[in-house]
Amino acid sequence: MSNGKRIGILTSGGDCAGLNAVIRAVVHRAVTTYNWQVVGIEEGTHGLLDRPVRHRVLLPADVDGTILRQGGTVLGTTNKGDPFAYPMPDGSKKDRSQEIISGCRELGLDALIGIGGDGSLAILRRLAQEGGLNLVGIPKTIDNDLGLTEVSVGYDTAVAVATEALDRLQPTAASHARVMVLEVMGRDAGHIALAAGIAGGADVILLPEIPWTVEGVANRIRQIRAHGRNFALVVVSEAATLPGGGKARQEFSDGQKRYGGIGGYIGHLIAEATGAETRVTVLGHVQRGGSPNPRDRLIASAFGVHAVDLIAQGRYDRMVAWSNRKVIDVPIADAIKAYAAVDVDGTLVRTARGLGIYVGEPMGEPVG
Ligand code: F6P
Repeated sequence: MSNGKRIGILTSGGDCAGLNAVIRAVVHRAVTTYNWQVVGIEEGTHGLLDRPVRHRVLLPADVDGTILRQGGTVLGTTNKGDPFAYPMPDGSKKDRSQEIISGCRELGLDALIGIGGDGSLAILRRLAQEGGLNLVGIPKTIDNDLGLTEVSVGYDTAVAVATEALDRLQPTAASHARVMVLEVMGRDAGHIALAAGIAGGADVILLPEIPWTVEGVANRIRQIRAHGRNFALVVVSEAATLPGGGKARQEFSDGQKRYGGIGGYIGHLIAEATGAETRVTVLGHVQRGGSPNPRDRLIASAFGVHAVDLIAQGRYDRMVAWSNRKVIDVPIADAIKAYAAVDVDGTLVRTARGLGIYVGEPMGEPVG
């Protein structure tokens, strides 16, 4: 069908809003502009482990109209099963990287576009280096912790969802004179908590990047009461450190561990320290699903088009990125290395403090 290249695309790691918008943009640019063929690989690297390799050719007609607005990924994804240490049924780990590389070769790909976070892009890059594959990366993660890009696909929608949750919690908090605790996602980075907390008018924001104390939280709530307000909103990142050290984690039946549970813990501590009635909401995967907001659709579209253009220019081992109002590209290795946690001296932390929000110690300035 195509007299040009044949490129593969896969989504890897946890899903988020905007992945389908990326797929749509890649297919359009590759097929319409360059007359290439696009092969969608199913379920991330897992599709490349199966024989026959699980894939399908994607045409503009398949991705037009609806999928720009759809949450999830039409290709499926996986955030488990590192191919270099793949968990086998007997409990052992096996290096299956060569199977994935040969899966790519079977598909006859000239280049591969991998849409992933730092973990997925690191794995894909290693596979590309070992297998001589021409890789271009597209950053996605609600955690927004990939370096060298101001934003990753999915982050903006997650912040909008968490902000809307605070908009919904505030009236019920005020009606019942309660302290509402909202636990949000963010594996190791507190970007969602900080952004949504400011946008949603939180009184307390607890992040993994900044130490905090129960007394600091309780003081802020006491101040609010002293000023005559009967409710408070607390946002906590799932990865914030517990007062005694360590993280709140949950273990699932298959043995996988994820952050989770700190909200309940904090709600209890606040009730104990202040006597306030507290309720806890854990937002969870609601932040990942659903329709992408306009900004995520724009970023995803720009990233998808630029990724295909990089292949057209023969520029590989690069990740598309957002910087200063435009799409750029950077070495994948540098983006992974420059992990982007919340800047504890940055604009948003300063803004939060300037608004009297308790964002942990050292507060420095008196509030209220
Ligand atoms: O990395 C994205 C993320 O949503 C994190 O914010 C969260 O800790 C984790 O994935 C949840 O993973 P899972 O979907 O496996 O529960």
